[in-house]
Amino acid sequence: MTEQSQGPALDNLLTESRTFPPSDEFAAAANAGPDLYAAADADREAFWATQAERLHWDTKWDRVLDWSDAPFAKWFVGGKLNVAYNCVDRHVESGHGDQVAIHWEGEPGDTRTITYSDLLAEVSKTANALTELGLQTGDRVAIYMPMVPEAIFSMLACARLGLTHSVVFGGFSAEALRSRIEDAAAKLVITTDGQYRRGKPAPLKPAVDEAVAQTPTIEHVLVVKRTDTEVAWTEGRDIWWNDLVDKQSDQHTPEAFDSEHPLYILYTSGTTGKPKGILHTSGGYLTQASYTHFNVFDLKPDSDVYWCTADIGWVTGHSYIVYGPLSNRVTQVVYEGTPNTPHEGRHWEIVQKYKVSIYYTAPTLIRTFMKWGKDIPAKYDLSSLRVLGSVGEPINPEAWIWYRENVGANRTPIVDTWWQTETGSIMISPLPGVTATKPGSAQKALPGISAKVVDDQGKEVPHGGGGYLVLDQPWPGMLRGIWGDNERYRDTYWSRFAEQGFYFAGDGAKYDNDGDIWLLGRVDDVMNVSGHRISTTEVESALVSHPTVAEAAVVGATDPTTGQGIVAFVILRGDAVDGGEDAVKALRDHVAKEIGPIAKPRQVMVVPELPKTRSGKIMRRLLRDVAENRSIGDVTTLADSTVMDLISQGLNKGSSED
Ligand code: WT7
Repeated sequence: MTEQSQGPALDNLLTESRTFPPSDEFAAAANAGPDLYAAADADREAFWATQAERLHWDTKWDRVLDWSDAPFAKWFVGGKLNVAYNCVDRHVESGHGDQVAIHWEGEPGDTRTITYSDLLAEVSKTANALTELGLQTGDRVAIYMPMVPEAIFSMLACARLGLTHSVVFGGFSAEALRSRIEDAAAKLVITTDGQYRRGKPAPLKPAVDEAVAQTPTIEHVLVVKRTDTEVAWTEGRDIWWNDLVDKQSDQHTPEAFDSEHPLYILYTSGTTGKPKGILHTSGGYLTQASYTHFNVFDLKPDSDVYWCTADIGWVTGHSYIVYGPLSNRVTQVVYEGTPNTPHEGRHWEIVQKYKVSIYYTAPTLIRTFMKWGKDIPAKYDLSSLRVLGSVGEPINPEAWIWYRENVGANRTPIVDTWWQTETGSIMISPLPGVTATKPGSAQKALPGISAKVVDDQGKEVPHGGGGYLVLDQPWPGMLRGIWGDNERYRDTYWSRFAEQGFYFAGDGAKYDNDGDIWLLGRVDDVMNVSGHRISTTEVESALVSHPTVAEAAVVGATDPTTGQGIVAFVILRGDAVDGGEDAVKALRDHVAKEIGPIAKPRQVMVVPELPKTRSGKIMRRLLRDVAENRSIGDVTTLADSTVMDLISQGLNKGSSED
């Protein structure tokens, strides 16, 4: 970022100026009221101590925060707890053993209903099995599984034993698994024979076999039978889950671990090739995951049915399927499959079937639903829904309004939650019973959290100004480092504003005139065109607001005259005409009209698909390669590498330049 002034372009991001306050009824019954902000402002540490008291501690902490070794935080110093006990046992002990914890829905339509008593028995058996395999507190366990209940049992069994889990998304390659096993020196991999993908079983274990052939630290591979796919077998190393776990006792006494005991490692891509192993610990992490889940989603454990559509391979699955929700005694849906298997109404069918009341998903999926058409959700009874959530990228106002109108019946609050793998839990979000929500803005740091938008010098920008998003106070769920690489930890997050001691999130943001925060995408996705800063998100938002556009991705391509030129890749809606010259011109004019002539894309390319990672993030780097006529680099994390061929083929068709 080279300049901090906000041209007219960014101000026009506010394409939707209505705000949506909660109903009086919702506000009156909400878990969180305005007093929560007041309590946190009055005394931050006392506030977090109160939140930590929502958990069961075997030994109480003697100090809330030790920041003397910054940027390495210690929260709830001296405290001891068992994370799994907090997520499972204590709900059974308080008389809720018969409450459903998980309504599991398999992709082919098979189901499993798991109560808290069932969950306790399964987690205990799994913990006994891992002990029989010789695993000891502090050992690392890789979990490479689809969304089957055993994945959750495995995570909780690790937590129960003080083993550190490293979940690797089941869509990643053998090489991605190998490098993660190696980095953490894991002793065990838990996997399945295969997984269902769009209605068909696909093998999974062969990738494990390939990975562990090169990772000598692995002693055993524990295999859940899911698809009944035939698998290669290494005697002595490989063990069927049923053979080992089923025979175990369902009794297990949890041990209390230090508040700073490592709970998990989760790898995330950085700007370099080597993924970073983000380290999370126990007490502070669980405190914030639990607190945010309870207040941001207004969870009522006795009546709500919650559904987070993420995969446990991502941090959203860790914090908002496993640790946050279960610590709050949630009843939740866990769905194994893809949203259009066997039809495009599958999610709404599930909402109707289980009377889901809280639904948390990603903007990319909301835009996909838009592409499929509003008549699909309209066919189902969605009246049980009362809170909707969004996470993962800025949600464009168009998608936000569509979500509210077509899923939320113009009634439900929408919480746009900003956070990162590194932050562990939600940091910036509306509170659904307090905030008058604004489509496209995540708005304010939660009570107890402090975020600022600052300029190059680390100085907070005024309302209406834009810059870098920083976190200027430590928070309980913060990463404790990068596994095995303290240097990289300091360098990646703490060096940009070392003088001020700010954590730099890597995101650009702005304040609007009310002081609400708008996320503008990663800083490296911010374009500079003729000295004007324009967010890729903003141009995408403008494109998607055009009736013919289903999805758009924008990159800044090097331009000899303007510094960067805006190149847009768009998918047209099913019923829209093919992307001829006229359609492309209309889109360029539309962006110019929405934002200003400066934002008019240099090129618009009509494409059939966009390259996305398996978590749904658009891979702008690849699009930049195409836009700048470079050969396409590493595509190993791409969900479907044929997409790039399609895009390259579509390059000349529907591309327009003047
Ligand atoms: C990056 C973190 C947090 C779990 C899923 C992604 C972007 C995330 C939002 C949001 C705008 C968002 C940011 C952030 N992001 N949520 N509500 N509005 N941007 O986790 O893979 O660690 O990615 O996702 O750019 O830095 P992640």
